[in-house]
Amino acid sequence: MGCGRAVFIFLSLLSLSTSDGDDEFRNYQISRKRFPPEFKFGVATCAYQVEGAWNEDGKGENIWDTMTHTRPEMIIDRSNGDVASDSYHKYKHDVAIMKKVGVHFYRFSIAWSRILPDGTLANINQKGIDYYMNLLQELHRNGIEPMVTIYHWDLPTALQNQGGWMNNNIVGWFTDYARLCFQLFGPLVKHWATINEPKQICHAGYGIGIGAPGITSGGLGEYLCAKYVLLAHASAYHVYDKEFRPSQQGKITIVLDSDWYEPGTPADEAAAEVRRQFVYGMYANPIIYGNWPQVMIDRVAIRSQLEHFNRSRLPDFSPYQQRLLKGTFDYLSINHYTTYMVSAIPEPPVGHASWDLDAGVRLWQKPEWETAAIDWFKVVPWGFHKLLRWMRTTYGDHEIYVTENGVSDRTGELDDFDRISYYRRYMSHMLDCINEGIRIIGYTAWSIIDNYEWNMGYVAHSGMYYINMTDPARRRIPRKSSYYYNHIIKTRCLLSQCDD
Ligand SMILES: *[C@@H]1O[C@H](CO)[C@@H](O)[C@H](O)[C@H]1NC(C)=O
Ligand SMILES: *[C@@H]1O[C@H](CO)[C@@H](O)[C@H](O)[C@H]1NC(C)=O
Repeated sequence: MGCGRAVFIFLSLLSLSTSDGDDEFRNYQISRKRFPPEFKFGVATCAYQVEGAWNEDGKGENIWDTMTHTRPEMIIDRSNGDVASDSYHKYKHDVAIMKKVGVHFYRFSIAWSRILPDGTLANINQKGIDYYMNLLQELHRNGIEPMVTIYHWDLPTALQNQGGWMNNNIVGWFTDYARLCFQLFGPLVKHWATINEPKQICHAGYGIGIGAPGITSGGLGEYLCAKYVLLAHASAYHVYDKEFRPSQQGKITIVLDSDWYEPGTPADEAAAEVRRQFVYGMYANPIIYGNWPQVMIDRVAIRSQLEHFNRSRLPDFSPYQQRLLKGTFDYLSINHYTTYMVSAIPEPPVGHASWDLDAGVRLWQKPEWETAAIDWFKVVPWGFHKLLRWMRTTYGDHEIYVTENGVSDRTGELDDFDRISYYRRYMSHMLDCINEGIRIIGYTAWSIIDNYEWNMGYVAHSGMYYINMTDPARRRIPRKSSYYYNHIIKTRCLLSQCDD
């Protein structure tokens, strides 16, 4: 179709400046510069959100299958990922539309229980292996690089029945699974991510219990989970580094997520920093420096004492474990969606153990901020700018991959101008950061197709392609944003014209 004209029309519909509550960016202008030629653009999905085929070809059950089937009330529309976007059967369509959009890489995840139905090497499912091999070959044929996430929240239920991420045996189970992935797929994969968003795995899954496996053990089980997730990551990193990197020459990291936390007043900066350390720092500090952030060690120890625990609820890392953790990343990653304001508060009363109370600050959002599909999802592009700057000032000059960014809507409309506007403003701030010397090397849009949005079920849409989830054919229908992303990738320019 007449893509060039469409791009021109929708670009001219959008105003060039935006104004936010934040002074530095009050009269923000979209960057007129181009992305560097070597900058990579990709799209992301994950297995449970797109594949479907939940019980086909020997796949074992995972904790999201189990939770959505046994506790459908946990999901806003009581739906599940049994069929989802049906990518298990339609992966060639997915690759074809990615080729059309022109992406350089595709970030997807492997479903542990599709390859190892009970989670262990006792039973290896060849048909599951074939699926990922076919997907990798299809990507290769189309010149799209894979970025493969080994674990994106879908733990085999058989392992959860033994405690899942709260059992220290998970370090060995995960290492076996990761090694198998490197053996099988490594020859075709140059970019690996061990684990996606440990904050969500541990806080949602084992802390407040809104994500699978739905365990509520705030400030206790969730810290055990965090410890074993980090050790599992480090173990897989070293397996790759020693056994596979010499021949496969790839890179590997862990995918971390963070909102931006902006101080309510200058006096709230310390509180905002505590929150950042409890979110990004909780996982970044161990892999970069080998231990929890000091502020976390101190605060959990104090709160545990007030609560009459004999020792801190935060499990420690032995000196040996600290050495294993330190430096287990080839580049930093960030999944980012929204921003919160932070205010300092007096020490919260003791009562129950809780990660939120351990951080001990108040979060809020400005009512004037633009809202996306979900009420917490505020569109605050300058928050991305500040987060990327903070990553450099806090952790130094590392390469950074933006591994997820994007916006959901509830309408699912094809003329998704709000999504275009979100991408354009967020990517513009990222481009500014590149021009400030922050070494951001790639950007991953979430998502290429509509998919299963966890607790939001099919109520929230995030695809550059629409899928009618009640249509058995699950056709992929382009939204305007897919043409806009294609325009950015082709021209490396966020506007219809850039300065050269
Ligand atoms: C805490 O320590 C005290 C004194 O050593 C001991 O009597 C008590 O049983 C311990 N409590 C727990 C929960 O371990
Ligand atoms: C979605 O597909 C169903 C089944 O084919 C159809 O009845 C319905 O009209 C479609 N919805 C839209 C919005 O196209």
